[in-house]
Amino acid sequence: MGGKDRRKGKDRREADAPSRWLEVEDARKAAKRRLAKAVYEHARAGAGNEATLAENEAAFRRRAIWPRVLRDVAACDPSTTVLGAALRVPVIVAPMGYLRLFDPEGEIAMARAAEAAGTILAVSELASVRFEDIAAATASPKWLQVCVVRDRGRTRAIVDRAAAAGYAAIVLTVDLPVIGRRPREIAAGFALPPDLALVNHGAVGDDGAACPATLDDLTPDATLTFRDLEWLRGVAPLPLVIKGILRGDDADLAVRHGAAAVIVSNHGGRQLDGAPAALDALPEVAAAVAGRAEVLVDGGVRSGADVLRAIGLGARAVLIGRPALYGLAGGGQAGVERVFAILEDELRATMALAGCRRVSELPRDLVRPTPR
Ligand SMILES: Cc1cc2nc3c(=O)[nH]c(=O)nc-3n(C[C@H](O)[C@H](O)[C@H](O)COP(=O)(O)O)c2cc1C
Repeated sequence: MGGKDRRKGKDRREADAPSRWLEVEDARKAAKRRLAKAVYEHARAGAGNEATLAENEAAFRRRAIWPRVLRDVAACDPSTTVLGAALRVPVIVAPMGYLRLFDPEGEIAMARAAEAAGTILAVSELASVRFEDIAAATASPKWLQVCVVRDRGRTRAIVDRAAAAGYAAIVLTVDLPVIGRRPREIAAGFALPPDLALVNHGAVGDDGAACPATLDDLTPDATLTFRDLEWLRGVAPLPLVIKGILRGDDADLAVRHGAAAVIVSNHGGRQLDGAPAALDALPEVAAAVAGRAEVLVDGGVRSGADVLRAIGLGARAVLIGRPALYGLAGGGQAGVERVFAILEDELRATMALAGCRRVSELPRDLVRPTPR
């Protein structure tokens, strides 16, 4: 390699430093350069021909923020609460499996970054660090995401462990009765490395906490219905968050069956290709819930302005998936913290420019379809 190439490499490494990232897109670029191609494609992939994946981001660009002026925005406050927990910004880390694919510290680094950002981490049932160790890593609130599997004893064991370890809520993901087919991931030859075995579902430990399991044992039970939510609520006295709702009638049923919150989500475009953008589904869900539960949304949030758009259309807070993942892959804990700092800066500036002092007091008509 000649001197010219080495300089390029050094410049590139410097540009990849989280402190140099100016927008969420910079985290993605750094992650892409750092990750093996198959792992990057696993993160980036959507189902089918990725129409829903593209729509998630496009839907934000179809909404304009109609600013108000002369509203004394000297001290804008983006903080809020979700299920009683205080959040510095209305942005939660979405559940994502196998974070050690992206950083050696995996879920521990993500938990520390979430705590530093003053927010909640939703831990996936496919975490690559033991649930108890993630819980013990920080004092900040965490949720545990599960799918109900055929052997209810397995699901019960996970929920019991979550309650014992101090998780603040159970997130039930309902949009994967079958796992979406992601051609990009298949083409790249993605496969889980053997050392990332299911640490939370392996052989029974001394504490009797884990059940023997293979990935097949964790396949969601496709016979699940709304009636099963009551069973799940009976397992542990934790608030239940239903993730993967896109319709008002389903949101109503979820609330009637005891959901404390619903997450409007199409799984980041990774499940039903052809599903609407999460942002497009949000107003219908918010109207159907009508304040009986908290409404959150994820999918395609890439800036502070996007966070404000989602709140303007009825969300209490958003979750971010890939932006946090790219932060982790591109710069470990510091990378995730940088992504949150960027989103907070952007959100504060957007609030001031839009004439909004508090996220709980947005005018109903702040966010409207972009005029054509
Ligand atoms: C690599 C990856 C792994 C994911 N794993 C899970 C999971 O284990 N459980 C779950 O409910 N959602 C999972 N999701 C979906 C996210 O929780 C979230 O809904 C989605 O990423 C939001 O879209 P965004 O990436 O555009 O922010 C995963 C997403 C990605 C990208």
